[in-house]
Amino acid sequence: MMLPRGTFRDKTVLVTGGGTGLGLETAKRFGSLGARLVIASRKAAHLESAAAELRPLGVEVLPVVVDVRRPASVSSMLQRAVDRFGGVDVLVNNAAGNFLCPTEDLSPGGWKVVIDIALNGVFYCTREVGRHMIERRRGHIVNVVAAYAWTGGPGTAHSAAAKAGVVALTRTLAVEWAPYGLRVNAVCPGVFQSEGARERLWPTAEAEEALRRHVPLGRFGDAGEIADAITYLASPFADYVNGEVLVLDGGAHLGRGLGH
Ligand code: COA
Repeated sequence: MMLPRGTFRDKTVLVTGGGTGLGLETAKRFGSLGARLVIASRKAAHLESAAAELRPLGVEVLPVVVDVRRPASVSSMLQRAVDRFGGVDVLVNNAAGNFLCPTEDLSPGGWKVVIDIALNGVFYCTREVGRHMIERRRGHIVNVVAAYAWTGGPGTAHSAAAKAGVVALTRTLAVEWAPYGLRVNAVCPGVFQSEGARERLWPTAEAEEALRRHVPLGRFGDAGEIADAITYLASPFADYVNGEVLVLDGGAHLGRGLGH
């Protein structure tokens, strides 16, 4: 961990998809830096086990069941956070949905469900919490995107389109909401170890090895490394960073060049 303990003392951080994987790792990082946490997920069971992991660390946690696809559910998520903690200082839009599917086989329903979670859901959460932050004239938003927002990604047309939309939203709001004292940034993880991603995106050892070979550093990232970047972007140490997409991919976006 790179930030001083107490960086987020008296701050409330809301992490969507905070019950598992990168979301939970991010929540842990914020918690260990002094934050109060709102962890939001569609699955109550995930929230219970996440809260059970977080509380012994001495962190105040409010688990909230939310479906980010439903604006009313998002609105009541914010209300619960405000009722419990008085406000939200940091929003991490981490919840997403994904699966590999050749585009010619992707049903309209499959397209829609991923766009609904990963793009519309980010908009609903950002709009709701953003209005609250505008009222308070402070707040930071960090979105989680993916490299295929730029490159495209065969088999992930739905998710790539959603993440490209989130990059556009990040840059738009960084400028539009700057006058209110808000900053909006994103992290762009390359391949990193996560059970959800492994099951969905590189289910076989061969697929995993093929991906690893694309990374100049020769390894997958660790969720903790992404979480460090998210906490940095939401911290006062990044107070002049706005509209940035911080790529953490071991150099993969640069390619391997010739001779490899
Ligand atoms: N391949 C092709 N189509 C799929 C699919 C797959 N693996 N999984 C779901 N779909 C399609 C379904 O067929 C359905 O389309 P239809 O209406 O045309 O039949 C549509 O997607 C909705 O499926 P459903 O199972 O009802 O959606 P859900 O809300 O239960 O699940 C997902 C949403 C599919 C995104 C699910 O993977 C999820 O909840 N993921 C959350 C976690 C996650 O993905 N994290 C990302 C880690 S990288």
